[in-house]
Amino acid sequence: MRLAEFILINMEPILQRWEDFARNLQSSYRLMDVLELRDHAKEILEEIAAELAYPDHERKLDLQGNTPAEVHADTRAVSGFTVDQLLSEFRALRASVLNLWSQRKKTATWFEVEDMSRFNAAIDRALAESVARYTEAQRQSQDIFLGIIGHDLRTPLSAINIGATYLMRSEDADAKLIQLGSRMFTSAVRMQEIIDNLLDFVRSRSGGGIPILLDAVDLRVVSEHIVDEFQVSSPGAVIRAEVTGDVRGRWDGARIGQVYQNLIGNAIQYGANTPVSVVTCGNDGEVVITVHNDGPPIPPAMQKNIFDPTRRGLSISTYSSNRKNMGLGLYIVREVVKSHSGTIEVSSNEKTGTTFTVRLPRLAE
Ligand SMILES: Nc1ncnc2c1ncn2[C@@H]1O[C@H](COP(=O)(O)OP(=O)(O)OP(=O)(O)O)[C@@H](O)[C@H]1O
Ligand SMILES: [Mg+2]
Repeated sequence: MRLAEFILINMEPILQRWEDFARNLQSSYRLMDVLELRDHAKEILEEIAAELAYPDHERKLDLQGNTPAEVHADTRAVSGFTVDQLLSEFRALRASVLNLWSQRKKTATWFEVEDMSRFNAAIDRALAESVARYTEAQRQSQDIFLGIIGHDLRTPLSAINIGATYLMRSEDADAKLIQLGSRMFTSAVRMQEIIDNLLDFVRSRSGGGIPILLDAVDLRVVSEHIVDEFQVSSPGAVIRAEVTGDVRGRWDGARIGQVYQNLIGNAIQYGANTPVSVVTCGNDGEVVITVHNDGPPIPPAMQKNIFDPTRRGLSISTYSSNRKNMGLGLYIVREVVKSHSGTIEVSSNEKTGTTFTVRLPRLAE
């Protein structure tokens, strides 16, 4: 008998073995979990049997186009299962089929080996589908969580902002209180930036990209405005700004301001007090912005993933330990540049220092 037929005929004992195994695996399995998983396991096995019997069979999908393995992962993600538990369920399913299959009277034919290896490949594929879906569901719920936190922090933060502004400007308060108000204000502005970055990160990671609003913009005005702000907020920093050629075009002015702000902010923060140079140069079809600083270069291994915080290992723990930064700045810069159909690259070494180069095409009406 071929394995496909064996699975269909022995569905009940296979599911029973699997259920015993699963109950041992996790004592807190609820009856609902078991019944639900029995249904899913049955569908996954039926699909595998069909695949073994007819290699080009059409895959069975539900009304939303999901495979049984994906539906199973969705259920597991919602019931709070860990990825390890999901993996063990598949291991149990595989073991339950193969144990029963090896116990029957053996005929030792060539197709047994072939059936087993095809069965393993099919289970692996179902497992991969389930894990991919589970990970995606986890990511989405993380994004929703981050989005809610970011959103809900805005209201209390604006109350702090109003209080700090009031203190800063009050005429009858003493100098100490005024200074306190001004520090609170600076911190609240920084918090606002972090929250905005977090919300942008969540939005663009969810596939929405960063929305932009095109308008006639003069990058000379944008860059000068940001450089002026830095001269007030970081009085010790030396910033040389230069504009050459025609730098007018259609972009999202506020978003390009964010690009300048993040790149210059980084150059000041990581440039070890070396002068920062900001050049905005208008060419025929594009404007090129370069931000340069000297100081310790970015290690080559880090340069590869510098625009991607998830690869650099962004986690709440690295954030909450000694670091004041979330590591989202360059990610957002790249997303803004991408939304403008532009490019960004970095070059960094001991000899020539660190330079970020942004190319922005002049966008049509
Ligand atoms: N101009 C630079 N010179 C040297 N290192 C840099 C420079 N710009 C960025 N880096 C390195 O790249 C990392 C990532 O930068 P990014 O702006 O994305 O995050 P961050 O500055 O750590 O946090 P955030 O910008 O969210 O406050 C920095 O932590 C720093 O180590
Ligand atoms: Mg930064």
